[in-house]
Amino acid sequence: MCGIVGYIGKRDAYPVVIKGLKRLEYRGYDSAGIALANGGLKVYKKKGKVAALEEAVIGEDVKGHTGIGHTRWATHGEPSDRNAHPHVSNGGSVAMIHNGIIENYAQIKNELIKKGYTFSSDTDTEVLLNFIEDIKKNNDCALEEAVRIALRRIVGAYCILLIDRDDPDTIIAARKGSPLVIGIGKNEHFLASDASPIVEYTKEVVYVNDYEIAIVRADELILKNLGNERQTPFITKLDMELASIEKCGFDHFMLKEIFEQPQTIFDCLRGRLDAENGTITMGGIQHYAEQIMNAGRIIMIACGTSWHAGLVAEYIFEELCRIPVEVEYASEFRYRNPVIHKGDVIIAISQSGETADTLVAIEKAKEQGAIILGVLNVVGSSIARVSHAGAYTHAGHEIGVASTKAFTAQLAVLTMIALKIAHTKKSIDDERYFALCRELIEIPDKVSLVLQQNEHVKALSEKYKDARDFLYLGRGYNFPIALEGALKLKEISYIHAEGYPAAEMKHGPIALVDEHLPVVFVATKDAYHQKIVSNMQEIKARKGKVISIITEGDTVSPTLSDDVIVVPAADEIVAPLLSVVPLQLLAYYIGVAKGYDVDKPRNLAKSVTVE
Ligand code: G6P
Repeated sequence: MCGIVGYIGKRDAYPVVIKGLKRLEYRGYDSAGIALANGGLKVYKKKGKVAALEEAVIGEDVKGHTGIGHTRWATHGEPSDRNAHPHVSNGGSVAMIHNGIIENYAQIKNELIKKGYTFSSDTDTEVLLNFIEDIKKNNDCALEEAVRIALRRIVGAYCILLIDRDDPDTIIAARKGSPLVIGIGKNEHFLASDASPIVEYTKEVVYVNDYEIAIVRADELILKNLGNERQTPFITKLDMELASIEKCGFDHFMLKEIFEQPQTIFDCLRGRLDAENGTITMGGIQHYAEQIMNAGRIIMIACGTSWHAGLVAEYIFEELCRIPVEVEYASEFRYRNPVIHKGDVIIAISQSGETADTLVAIEKAKEQGAIILGVLNVVGSSIARVSHAGAYTHAGHEIGVASTKAFTAQLAVLTMIALKIAHTKKSIDDERYFALCRELIEIPDKVSLVLQQNEHVKALSEKYKDARDFLYLGRGYNFPIALEGALKLKEISYIHAEGYPAAEMKHGPIALVDEHLPVVFVATKDAYHQKIVSNMQEIKARKGKVISIITEGDTVSPTLSDDVIVVPAADEIVAPLLSVVPLQLLAYYIGVAKGYDVDKPRNLAKSVTVE
């Protein structure tokens, strides 16, 4: 949530920062702003997307080699010009941007008000900024020192970037909880919430750790901890290509990412799954295989779409590994008093690796002796650093706010982990193990076949786009896919949609069924296929419109459906990797047909770094 960008060096900062903000817009787009050190401080900010800011500064003086910029997902204070970042301190000399939440801001604000400070926004950021200025004034110290003193009192999460009118050749940055990457160029530095604004300039980056302060000049990067001790910056090479963050001819990132899935699932399996010889190589997991096999239970912790991946994995792990699995919303888990035994295995599932609730939940479980495994997409993310081990999903940069390719990559990784454990534990026989390895390796090609239905799904979206509500039903492995299909539709098209277990539908949602309600059945062939066919009949009998995702060769479901989308046959364990794809397309095309910005749906953000 909220994207931050900074630049210091030989170039003009403005174009670098604006371009970077556009890349980070997926993190929030309620307002955008920029501050430039240019003989004084120039600050421009505007409610709305970065394009609105660009328009607002036409004709303005945007020179300067030092700049910071922000794209906001509102927490404290409504989206407006006045609440947009950067904020400027009461004394007028320091500008600051912030990603995160300062929890004890109210108390500090009261103290500052008593000292005569005034506030021109409703944000917690402006409070922290003036707190820093007050310390700087009282101690007659450098900005860096004031930041350090202030942060020792701060409760909450932050990544902050500050520039000082009186020291225009320095950016001060600090983080706790919210991410910060610094790109190292030749006599220039780039700062950002993730590497996407940096990759076209340099591939050498430093991931700043929690409780570190960076003093950044064109030719110098100094890292210190809050105790003022120098830290050695650990430089890593970015494994990211520019093409991965561009649309490459697609209308939207979401569509591009849906179409990337044959490749991303392939990338995820590559080098790990050797179906012919029946080997699965996953270094991190291998190391903890013994503990996983002997775990009293596995707890999957996640949010949003990643939570749905956890639900599918629950069914797979219990079936194949015979280990009890619980799936928890991170936000619930962290605030109750869960029973965690030493040796419990926690699998944290997260695309970004930065989701605040997931991060805190696993930290809590780790303190109590659990083993933490991460199934994550972003390499080097905060959750990756807290985890004992894990497996990356290798789906590449996901920019569309609604998750698609990251989800299928999560399913692929979780299926491989379950297969590996089941094989080692001998809870499935060799025949089943080899068969499932082969099923998994065939998935990328089968996803390509599903994508051939693109035009058909697009036509369906025209037919159903005006529905007020949608119901998504599935059983077994496809129940979480029904939830995911409903979530995608809500996110992108703002149509109310509910996902339900197909049979449970009789205990409530069936009351909604009439001739106006489209009901999407995720009804690929599985052991209980006949049951979901009966559920279709129940909907049809009440005149609901039935759209079914079915397996090729199914001749019964089409007779009960108004429309069908056919996917290739696959074992029920890997079928969700296919059945989710048409649902992603359906949500996408309905969103587009309704004229919405599907890559940046209202109120949402991709990386939720606040609780
Ligand atoms: C946000 C995103 C979702 C995502 C969820 C969890 O709500 O919009 O697409 O599923 O966060 O994010 P994570 O990065 O932890 O998977």
